[in-house]
Amino acid sequence: MSEGVRTSLSNSHEHDRSAEPLVTLERLPDGAFAEVEVVLDGDAESLIVYRDGDHVRAWLNICPHAGRRLDWAPGQFLKSKDGHLVCAAHGASFELVGGECVGGPCRGESLRAVDVVARDGAVWLGETAA
Ligand code: FES
Repeated sequence: MSEGVRTSLSNSHEHDRSAEPLVTLERLPDGAFAEVEVVLDGDAESLIVYRDGDHVRAWLNICPHAGRRLDWAPGQFLKSKDGHLVCAAHGASFELVGGECVGGPCRGESLRAVDVVARDGAVWLGETAA
């Protein structure tokens, strides 16, 4: 299990994505997850943000199996002993490079990646985040 972080962004920054980071790296230790609420293309979305050393990755918090959130409580994600993100609903496990399901009911399917970058000690939406 991994301790999570939960943050949310105000809609007032919808038109200026660079105004606020998703989460600071100080609040996202190496190997940890955060759940962040953002507005993408006008829709409120929950993101899984994952830190891997100096790299950060993010995916929509929607499991390809049955469309459920992957966290068991907001910002609380399960991580297996072999380092996979485990969906709290039915146990699908996802590798944390490409977000592909490597075990469980949706094996072979993938989480939907969202472009993020680490810069200035924080995680930001990337240019191509849609
Ligand atoms: S919704 Fe994630 S494993 Fe079923």
